[in-house]
Amino acid sequence: MALRLGRRPFLALVAGASASAAGAALLGRSGQLRSAGSASATAPSRLRSSGGRLDLDLVAQETEVATPGGPARALTYNGLLPGPLLEIDPGDAVRINLHNRLPRPTNIHYHGLHIPPGGSADNVFLSVGPGKSHSYAFTLPADHPAGTFYYHPHSHGTVADQVFGGLGGMLIVRGALDRIPAVRAAAEQVLFLKDLAAERGSSPMGMGLMLGREGAVLTVNGQVNPTLSMPAGGLLRLRIVNGSSARFWRLALEEHPFHLIATDGGALEAPVELAELLLAPGERAEVLVRGERQGGRYRLLNLPYTRGAGGMMGGMGMGSGPGQQGPVSIATLTYAGSVAPLPLPERLLPVELLPEPVRRRRFVLNHGMAPGMGMVFLINGRPFDHGRIDTRVRLGDTEEWELVNVGVMDHPFHVHINPFQVISRNGKPEPFRAWKDVVLLRPGETVRIRTRFDDFTGRSVYHCHILDHEELGMMGILEITA
Ligand code: C2O
Ligand code: CU
Ligand code: CU
Repeated sequence: MALRLGRRPFLALVAGASASAAGAALLGRSGQLRSAGSASATAPSRLRSSGGRLDLDLVAQETEVATPGGPARALTYNGLLPGPLLEIDPGDAVRINLHNRLPRPTNIHYHGLHIPPGGSADNVFLSVGPGKSHSYAFTLPADHPAGTFYYHPHSHGTVADQVFGGLGGMLIVRGALDRIPAVRAAAEQVLFLKDLAAERGSSPMGMGLMLGREGAVLTVNGQVNPTLSMPAGGLLRLRIVNGSSARFWRLALEEHPFHLIATDGGALEAPVELAELLLAPGERAEVLVRGERQGGRYRLLNLPYTRGAGGMMGGMGMGSGPGQQGPVSIATLTYAGSVAPLPLPERLLPVELLPEPVRRRRFVLNHGMAPGMGMVFLINGRPFDHGRIDTRVRLGDTEEWELVNVGVMDHPFHVHINPFQVISRNGKPEPFRAWKDVVLLRPGETVRIRTRFDDFTGRSVYHCHILDHEELGMMGILEITA
């Protein structure tokens, strides 16, 4: 049976119904921000495929939301912050009718999915004008890995504004990782991380744009400091998406390490224990948390992070965003009940060893001044040009790309359609194999990635996922030909 969202529920929401009644975010028009720790981190409203199909409408619109600074306008899908959580299986046929009720063009990108880059699939060159609709359709390959993915607008010229304004949602692909008994035994919780501007109509210019805009209100599934709970002895599986346009999230859970089980493109070979987890915009991770402490309250913290050397900025407080000097509690973990202690999985899934590359390329990331444009961000000395193909590759080839950041700011480099593996950082081999589609380059760093252009021909892009940098030029066009 096809699942279809009627228009009525979200119109009702805009008209003032409670957002939580729609099973979604707390920041609805009539909703109050609940006090710290009293909300439970309910999942965003969830749309699950059935019978091999997922069919839905997404209305991109402005919605009034409550923030600590008072009512503000946010950009939403279907009136929800974040947008509905989409859950699909390999082989599913997906149809999304996008309706643009915004004053500027928009479109949809399926960040991390391995689907065709053309037609009405993951086509970022397609633009849906104000008042227009477009019907997206694609079939997820039958061998698509399970994982945590992300949909968001990607119309060049409006993408940073629209993601900063609130548009985005999580997309889960179910599969082999979910069937591993020790993983399946874990309680699952999604965490869609998004910063929102505190005040109405704020649109920083100049320096703010150059650094990448950060909002002061830190939300998890659209809520401020919700509660997560797990049984003592149990396992909690967190699926985490950084849905911010520029903010990095550096997470630590008091007295609990994270056991990383999946990165952007799906499962690792075995869990990796981490004291903290840094996610650049667009990055995802899945971690297990063990309920191995005494009952109590443990804060999930966002730790301060500085995005780059900042020499050029003269200490303008680049990074952690307005006012964040110390750790901020973004959610609170409590224990409820107990179970016989559950083991961590020992092995997860094989991660393919890619063959030797048939070709090597180099991409140098920097900033500079362009006549008439002011400050721009550059890849190999050039700002984005929609009429130029920067990189031509052949279907089936494995390539190794050397990415070099010679600038003064962090740049998370992202590639569409085909995931990659990080081979080395500053000459040092990566400690474990993992599928990624965003890799962070700090100032002065050189990272080598390896990728294979599988299954699909067509044009797509790579870019910095600080979306203000992407808008200011840090993007190139990739063409895959047979
Ligand atoms: Cu989330 Cu072009 O990316
Ligand atoms: Cu993407
Ligand atoms: Cu950048």
